[in-house]
Amino acid sequence: MTEPAIKYRLIKKEKHTGARLGEIITPHGTFPTPMFMPVGTLATVKTMAPEELKDMGAGIILSNTYHLWLRPGEDIVEEAGGLHRFMNWDQGILTDSGGFQVWSLSDMRRIEEEGVHFRNHLNGSKMFLSPEKAIQIQNKLGPDIMMSFDECPPFYESHDYVKKSIDRTSRWAERGLKAHANADRQGLFGIIQGAGYKDLRQQSARDLVAMDFPGYSIGGLSVGETKHEMNTILEYTTPLIPEHKPRYLMGVGTADSLIDGVIRGVDMFDCVLPTRIARNGTCMTSKGRLVVKNAQYARDFRPLDEKCDCYTCRNYTRAYIRHLIKCDETFGMRLTSYHNLYFLLNVMKQVRQAIMDDNLLEFREAFFEEYGFNEE
Ligand code: GUN
Ligand code: ZN
Repeated sequence: MTEPAIKYRLIKKEKHTGARLGEIITPHGTFPTPMFMPVGTLATVKTMAPEELKDMGAGIILSNTYHLWLRPGEDIVEEAGGLHRFMNWDQGILTDSGGFQVWSLSDMRRIEEEGVHFRNHLNGSKMFLSPEKAIQIQNKLGPDIMMSFDECPPFYESHDYVKKSIDRTSRWAERGLKAHANADRQGLFGIIQGAGYKDLRQQSARDLVAMDFPGYSIGGLSVGETKHEMNTILEYTTPLIPEHKPRYLMGVGTADSLIDGVIRGVDMFDCVLPTRIARNGTCMTSKGRLVVKNAQYARDFRPLDEKCDCYTCRNYTRAYIRHLIKCDETFGMRLTSYHNLYFLLNVMKQVRQAIMDDNLLEFREAFFEEYGFNEE
């Protein structure tokens, strides 16, 4: 038996919720959980230098198999010495498998037992991605954590379709495990699917847990269902995952959803949201979203968030950032991206402290009160 590449250490369970404080030990360092992972789709977290991400406490970032397969190609990344050296990032990296990206970005998808045929979003040429190919690409890219190739069915798809889909996703997970060549230095996670059907989520979890992955993702969420539906699914899904394995909720990145996910036992999150909305001037703050382009900020010389002590908020005003964003200046996008990532990482830091202090529900109440969040 070789040592697993990825280990989860449970430090403490919160007294009144399902939240857990822990850490994940990777070949590129250890990061505390719960954690939010910034997304660097094309081997860059858009506008951010690795040193800046490190300064704000990002111990792991996410990248994408699909995008790097198309450009520059996994062989070039491998030749560079792997993704870490290619992009000068010496902390953790997780890659998504391409399953979700093929569904959300490409045209003319056709799904078969063998894999997915599609036309890529760059030049429309025909491509094919299989569970084995997704693993081979990730073995060459060299992230610390890899994802199994899965299908993310639409949330309101029929029970009959979703049942067939999770059966196939389980077979794909098994095929991926067999194809995985670097289990000593890369941990492969299984992805639990099942849309909004409890019996199917249970079956998907049971299938994958039997395969003994070093960690489990919860997929198929934040795809148009209500917050209440997501919370309900998390409530019954996280207890199906062994306690000594990390739980990763894919594609979720609003502060309120992070807090509600942690309360239900989630350890890791990722989302393009903070960096994507930053580039058009939408800022995440302790008082909710601030659209800095709005005319009301033209002469507002306060920081984006008066409670924030990030580089952006310590040095620049809403008026200046508004001017930059309105003029499409890249420095404006850098400042808002830095702030939004710092804000979410800081929320997670406070959440970890609240778990330590057993007062996460009080923290949630105070946070939501100021954030102006109304339950949906
Ligand atoms: N990112 C967000 N949701 C998903 C999902 O269901 N599967 C995969 N592979 N990636 C995701
Ligand atoms: Zn800030």
